Amino acid sequence: MQAVRVAAYNAAAPPIMSLDMVSKQFGALKALDRLSLEIMSGEILGIAGPNGAGKSTLLNVCTGVLAPSSGTVNFEGRRMAGLPAHRYCSLGIARTFQIPQIFSSMSVEENIATGAMFGPVERLVPAQVKARLEGILDLTGLSRQRRQSASQVDLLTRKRIMLAASLATEPRLVFLDEPLSGLNAEEVEIFVGLFRRLHNTLGLTLVVVEHKVRALADLSDRILILNAGALLCLDRPEVVMRDARVIDIYLGARNFA
Ligand SMILES: Nc1ncnc2c1ncn2[C@@H]1O[C@H](COP(=O)(O)OP(=O)(O)OP(=O)(O)O)[C@@H](O)[C@H]1O
Ligand SMILES: [Mg+2]
Repeated sequence: MQAVRVAAYNAAAPPIMSLDMVSKQFGALKALDRLSLEIMSGEILGIAGPNGAGKSTLLNVCTGVLAPSSGTVNFEGRRMAGLPAHRYCSLGIARTFQIPQIFSSMSVEENIATGAMFGPVERLVPAQVKARLEGILDLTGLSRQRRQSASQVDLLTRKRIMLAASLATEPRLVFLDEPLSGLNAEEVEIFVGLFRRLHNTLGLTLVVVEHKVRALADLSDRILILNAGALLCLDRPEVVMRDARVIDIYLGARNFA
């Protein structure tokens, strides 16, 4: 039986990010449709929903990759509209992508060091950069492979590298787009354990988009189900997993059962 998680965040504290009536239109298609949402500081928020529901678009809008067609995005009380993606990054927002994006020509540790270049604008002395790098290598379990070429590593390691490079930007809010896709059951367990460790050790707020709904329910404080660009439900995992509308959407989907 699944253990009931005690929410790690303070619901009375102001949200770290809030979206107000956000829409994103691609031609005639409304990928996001007047979505309002508060991401609570310190929570793990899971996001699921069918293919094409708008999950990646939502992440793109929250991280400055795409500008919303209408509506507002606020981060720590600051209005983000109009800022370029690298400013989102230097202000403390990081993300990983559905398909691991790393530099194959570089070593594992060089990949992670490039992340540090996109972090806060303050100047770090080399010793500080090195200390930050060591901490991240250790935390993400990459220390032993640090000098290996990124072109030679397996999928799990590529995913670790992308995550580690995002952590090198010193974020407070991290968005992960389908971090468990392509992993087997054992690897899923390893990666979910890693997210818990990051959340506990670094005090990160995590937003995780994932089709593997069982693993997501196990990890998250709350789960948001998106459908056709709109919020279908948002609640604790044990409530969402029993919601008839959610079961309907996922009926037959192999990862739900
Ligand atoms: N750049 C774009 N131009 C045009 N249409 C787009 C673009 N990006 C996404 N879409 C469309 O917007 C809708 C939402 O796409 P999105 O990638 O956000 O879905 P998703 O929930 O992440 O799906 P998946 O589970 O397959 O990753 C889809 O119909 C998609 O085809
Ligand atoms: Mg997607």
